[in-house]
Amino acid sequence: MAIQRKTHKVLVIGGGGREHALCWKLAASPAVARVYCAPGNGGTPAVATPVAIGAGDLDGLLRFARAESIDLTVVGPEAPLVAGIVDRFRAAKLPVFGPSAAAARLEGSKAFAKQFMARHQIPTAAYATFTEVNPALAYVRAQGAPIVVKASGLAAGKGVIVAMTVAEAEVAVRAILAEGVFGAAGAEVVIEQCLAGEECSVIAITDGKELFTLPAAQDHKRIGDGDTGPNTGGMGAYCPAPILTPALAKQVEREVLRPVIDGMAADGTPFSGVLYAGLMISPEGPKVLEFNVRFGDPECQPLMANLEDDLYTVLAAASRGALGGYTPHPRPGAALTVVLAAAGYPGPYPKGDVITGIETAEEDPHVVVFHAGTRLDGDRLLTDGGRVLGVTGCGATLAEAKRRAYAACDQIHFAGKTLRHDIGARAR
Ligand code: AMP
Ligand code: GLY
Repeated sequence: MAIQRKTHKVLVIGGGGREHALCWKLAASPAVARVYCAPGNGGTPAVATPVAIGAGDLDGLLRFARAESIDLTVVGPEAPLVAGIVDRFRAAKLPVFGPSAAAARLEGSKAFAKQFMARHQIPTAAYATFTEVNPALAYVRAQGAPIVVKASGLAAGKGVIVAMTVAEAEVAVRAILAEGVFGAAGAEVVIEQCLAGEECSVIAITDGKELFTLPAAQDHKRIGDGDTGPNTGGMGAYCPAPILTPALAKQVEREVLRPVIDGMAADGTPFSGVLYAGLMISPEGPKVLEFNVRFGDPECQPLMANLEDDLYTVLAAASRGALGGYTPHPRPGAALTVVLAAAGYPGPYPKGDVITGIETAEEDPHVVVFHAGTRLDGDRLLTDGGRVLGVTGCGATLAEAKRRAYAACDQIHFAGKTLRHDIGARAR
């Protein structure tokens, strides 16, 4: 990969752990002179200049990128992508990495994603979609439980109910379609077969033709040890996930990633950006649970910590449709992120508690602490969200990465610090 000179300016949009990890990796690029982060969090100023513009303020972001002659804008979260930020930037001839609004429907509408997979023979759970309560209830009763009920639109990771009984599924259908608990995101439901197996996430960077596929990662969605309690945005992640053997990785590329790229192009809505396939490795092979159109959070944190390649070069090439020739340089070893959350998360939680010990934790050169829900108040660092920090360890083995990450977690303190103790335990 050609080394570029340190001349480029990058804007990262978003303010979570994912965006801190992206800023950190981009700031380390020999091609990058300056990273900006809008709006960022309490940790991003260490690697990126804060810009006080929210991720939803598309006009403000466009004005900033134009005024600063930003060389590449990288969009972290899904909402601005689904809202068409990439189309706006492209129309203004501003270089941007991410999918168009039409391509972002793969995440923005689960109904669209299911229809797309059916049309292109991409393996996924059998399903039906409904906008009316009674036919949905009849379908649930006919199928029986366990069964999965999903709000079709964006619901911040909360719109999926894995119902173990028909009664539970009925409650979910009524809550989504009749009571509107997810608002417009629940105007339509997807009801699908419940798949069994082990989950993993395959994340690829694509320019619409070529793939730059990162090592498989595994997220831990439930709040409690042993996968108990309610779903969260993700309480920890690691890579590589050994469940995805090299043979399975090839199968995923052949049966999922390639058909998505080719199918989206054939449908007239080419997909470029991050293609994230949430997979169930079922006894019949890998099946798609969901697509996301951006890096996973927290999966992005261990992936960036363990990435050998220059992220700027890869994302810039992808944004230009020129990813051909780039393939990831394998890095031996592993990375593992433990999320430190506020007490009560994913329910209501306090904010404004003082955080200490990050510098001590980072004395280990194999540890990096990515901030998520934090903010600076003078020289104090305060909690400011449900997921507060992503404590990341690297190592020659997953066991070593895990030991370092957990040793670092012990050094960090804030009131109500909540974490899972079994991140990486399913890797065998
Ligand atoms: P999603 O946001 O669609 O990935 O769903 C969130 C979580 O619900 C997934 O990570 C799975 O644990 C679970 N899930 C989703 N769809 C299914 C399915 N068809 N069968 C079993 N579990 C599922
Ligand atoms: N960690 C799962 C997600 O980002 O959707």
